[in-house]
Amino acid sequence: MPKNRPSKVVLAYSGGLDTSAIAKWLQLEYACEVIAFTADLGQEDELDLARQRAEQLGIKQIYIEDLREEFVRAFVFPMLRANTVYEGEYMLGTAIARPLIAQRLVAIAEETGAEAIAHGATGKGNDQVRFELGAYALAPRIRVIAPWREWPYTSRTDLLKFCQEHGLNYAASGDSSRVYSIDANLFHTSYEGCELEDPSVAPDPKMWQRTVSPQMAPDVPTQIELQFSKGDPEQLNGQKMSPATLLAELNRLGGENGIGRLDLVENRYIGMKSRGCYETPGGTILLKARRAVEALTLDGRTAHLKDEWMPRYAEMIYNGNWWSPERRALQQMIDATQASVEGSVRLELYKGNVTVLGRASTQSLYDPHLATFEDSRERYNHKDAGGFIRLTALRFLTRDT
Ligand code: ARG
Repeated sequence: MPKNRPSKVVLAYSGGLDTSAIAKWLQLEYACEVIAFTADLGQEDELDLARQRAEQLGIKQIYIEDLREEFVRAFVFPMLRANTVYEGEYMLGTAIARPLIAQRLVAIAEETGAEAIAHGATGKGNDQVRFELGAYALAPRIRVIAPWREWPYTSRTDLLKFCQEHGLNYAASGDSSRVYSIDANLFHTSYEGCELEDPSVAPDPKMWQRTVSPQMAPDVPTQIELQFSKGDPEQLNGQKMSPATLLAELNRLGGENGIGRLDLVENRYIGMKSRGCYETPGGTILLKARRAVEALTLDGRTAHLKDEWMPRYAEMIYNGNWWSPERRALQQMIDATQASVEGSVRLELYKGNVTVLGRASTQSLYDPHLATFEDSRERYNHKDAGGFIRLTALRFLTRDT
């Protein structure tokens, strides 16, 4: 038994095979009290099953929290304000959920007097880094137990055997070597493993859970209207909705129209490349719509500056630095640009595509009198452009070639 063992540990518990085995293992290996924390982030797992299994494991303190609104309002929407994508494409659906889980884990540890937290992320991925950096940033004295880095088990078969030996009879779902590693929440679903491990092989069409294929999507386009205020979406088709409700509704509309599928080889923080598939239907619509409102309402240089910050900001989130001082500082700068980002966008959803049909804003900086090809001599003198270009070209004109 490890020395200085904690007496209580808060475990990020999903109710699945892995985290159930972890709960049991912690009770045996550390002889500690396990407190279970299950976050409802819209993953549509059976929360009742998680509770039942936690009880079966003899866990007395079970926290099951509906965090859907907080997740979208305080994590997803702030992230979208930067039009964030990692490596040009990935909308960070897993990375943005981890800081909230880390925050709740350490808060529950504080509340219950637990000295440690534990999670079920493996030793190969980004998620261990995200949980742990988040926890240390918020609670520097917390201890973290990562069973996948400690115990002798290396496969699902090992875990099934361990569970069976301890009277936990979880049926293996099908051929257990053929299950994807899936992470789902209200923002996205991600898939890794199985045939995806060969980047030259296309995913099995049956893999996708929340979007139809563009070929199967309706032949008639769906038109929607989104209204933004201070950079965040507030209304869909003229109806005010809470952040989680609005995102769920966009997921439904996007899913029906085959929107938001992605197949990507990405660079993990810990150094390896990995291939994953993602479905982010609502997020894909929001990104397009947000850019359309920003195009109208943001000063050009400000918009370009935001675009320069974005990859750094995305990397901070991907690498688990949500709770870092630099991410928080950058967030304030991003948020400061959003005061005028309001207005409405009309979009068409059709066979995997999101097309902007029109946009309008009371904060619009678009000046039709300036932009027109018709006469606008009062405010724009064509002759000024000649001087502007000559001065801009001065360094070329003075070159001695
Ligand atoms: N590769 C993605 C990321 O690092 C998704 C990870 C999915 N996590 C999982 N446990 N399956 O953000």
